Amino acid sequence: MTESTNITWHDSEVTKEERQKLNGHKSAVLWFTGLSGSGKSTLSVEVEKQLHHKGLRTYRLDGDNIRHGLNKNLGFSPEDRTENIRRIGEVSRLMVDAGVLTLSAFISPYKEDRDQVRELLPDGEFLEVYVECSLEECENRDPKGLYQKARAGEIKGFTGIDAPYEAPEKPELTVNTTTASIEESAGQIIDYLAGNGYIQ
Ligand code: PPS
Repeated sequence: MTESTNITWHDSEVTKEERQKLNGHKSAVLWFTGLSGSGKSTLSVEVEKQLHHKGLRTYRLDGDNIRHGLNKNLGFSPEDRTENIRRIGEVSRLMVDAGVLTLSAFISPYKEDRDQVRELLPDGEFLEVYVECSLEECENRDPKGLYQKARAGEIKGFTGIDAPYEAPEKPELTVNTTTASIEESAGQIIDYLAGNGYIQ
């Protein structure tokens, strides 16, 4: 990949703060990370639905969906996963700049990659949500039959089987989808946003 040269940043006359004011709420990214089958997508769909019903501006970015378009040229090697998360981090930053409550749900298995995204955003605008669920439970659920294929050797480099997952050390929030229902976990996230002044 070659890098761009001879480029100049051009500021807008409308600021993020003005966009937020017009929307009537702050913007931030809720970054859902966890194993395949942990419930990231289901949970982010539920949280977005609840936020939308409160009249807030939202947008959801999701692993499988983004890999159909923007990131269709990326696979699951460590390098491609890093590039996947780098691009999504940049897109999330743009969405937050647009004043939107953004929900990004990606396995994002590497701590360093998630920390790079955190660095892209001002303090308090990157909220890491660890969707905790044991490998055993994810494998039991196996909603797409991918664990079975990975165990059979039909998928190489599957997260949790023969590729690593580095759990967050200090996430803003941890929800446990083995012990709590999706509704309970969504409630926990909404309560966090309300309790910390992101929403009313
Ligand atoms: S990553 O690691 O953050 O770049 O992955 P992500 O973009 O979130 O994509 C995860 C979805 O891709 C499917 N899939 C795999 N996951 C993990 N490892 C391998 N090798 C793999 N191959 C395909 C799978 O459907 C993941 O979706 P979720 O929703 O997490 O189950």
